[in-house]
Amino acid sequence: MVHGSVGNIGDPDVFGDKLFFKDTGSFKVDFGKLPFLLHHNFENSDLFSLSRLARAAEQLIQKGRGHRFSAHRAQDKINSGWVSMPREEQVAAAVESIGEQNAWMKITALNEADPAYVEFLNTAIAEIDGLLDHNFKQEVTHAQMTAFISSPGVAAPYHIDHEENFLCQISGEKEVCLYDPLDRENLPDKEIEEFYFGNYDAAKYRDNLKSRGKIFQLKPGVAVHHPSLSAHWVRNGDQPSVSISLVFCTKEIDKRAYIYQSNYLLRRLGLPQSPPGRHPFWDEVKKKSIRAVSKPRPTSFRELIFSGPDNIKAPIRSIQNMFKSVKSN
Ligand SMILES: [Fe+2]
Repeated sequence: MVHGSVGNIGDPDVFGDKLFFKDTGSFKVDFGKLPFLLHHNFENSDLFSLSRLARAAEQLIQKGRGHRFSAHRAQDKINSGWVSMPREEQVAAAVESIGEQNAWMKITALNEADPAYVEFLNTAIAEIDGLLDHNFKQEVTHAQMTAFISSPGVAAPYHIDHEENFLCQISGEKEVCLYDPLDRENLPDKEIEEFYFGNYDAAKYRDNLKSRGKIFQLKPGVAVHHPSLSAHWVRNGDQPSVSISLVFCTKEIDKRAYIYQSNYLLRRLGLPQSPPGRHPFWDEVKKKSIRAVSKPRPTSFRELIFSGPDNIKAPIRSIQNMFKSVKSN
């Protein structure tokens, strides 16, 4: 098992006032392709203290976006256990329980809570743009900041995500194991197709290939870049952990997602399909076909990436429900 070393990523004292990320030389080469470590200086911001994050959760709840906040303790959802409690009190209870074992909370889309997070996210996008050769800002189709606050020992099982991600450690430590997203032996096209059609557990952990995972040690001030579809698992150290995830969708990875969705459907019809990138003309046709059945002006990640499959599955589900109700009558 290869370990990522913080010692490889340079001196964090040369940030200056504005940079969130330090260019390590590998940024341009590896961004979007392979995982790598880098420094961040988020600790200079007051947006990521536990109390400020709890306030962001309350702001989301007050705006009617309580679904952006979720909290779990042991095997049970804190929310479901405290169903009679106002949501604002659930936030306080979740923050208090973070020192215990097996508790975590997630605040999705901090940028919907407060304009200060939007400003921070925009600055981060501008700085990433400055570190790359291409115009990243114009490529971005969706950007979001999510806070993960979890107690010692909490782990996230092996999975894949669509978005590009910078997972930035604020306090505590965690281990993140990431795999090469282009390794089709570890992550076959068929599993990616299933993932993009709504089976979020489609990526199978392969014990015989576990040595291909690279473990990165995160501590405060250190971040790891997850390329899109880089399979990963995460395990907290023995202290409570606060991490901020900056996630991005881009035109390129969205197009690839639509091609995989189209391939899923065509393969179900018995038509073998080539993976994205082999036939540019057909790739374009496949992308347009899925976009034609997707939400025309998406306003969320879900709508941007999954509204096509959702719309395709909806009538099938209606018919299934209809048959079920006929059978039960
Ligand atoms: Fe993930």
